[in-house]
Amino acid sequence: MRLHRLRDTARPPIALTLEGKPVEALRGDTLLTALLAAGAGPLRQSEFGDGARSGFCLMGACQDCWVAVEGLGRVRACATLAEDGMAVRRG
Ligand code: FES
Repeated sequence: MRLHRLRDTARPPIALTLEGKPVEALRGDTLLTALLAAGAGPLRQSEFGDGARSGFCLMGACQDCWVAVEGLGRVRACATLAEDGMAVRRG
């Protein structure tokens, strides 16, 4: 697990999928928080050939957290709120 929830754990649960597998999240999570807290592991490979990425800056600047969301296209996971029913693919 890359992230561990320390507080605000009483928020309502939501359900999304990553590569078709269920992921539990909490309302108000960013997609990146939801995926990493669920142990999703690397989200993409760097196009510059230097390895797997799972986000770095957490504020929309580094481009290391791109994922694809059905109906939305390619988004930065750290700058996108997770929503119930989202279908996510690694970027
Ligand atoms: S983690 Fe850097 S842009 Fe999302």
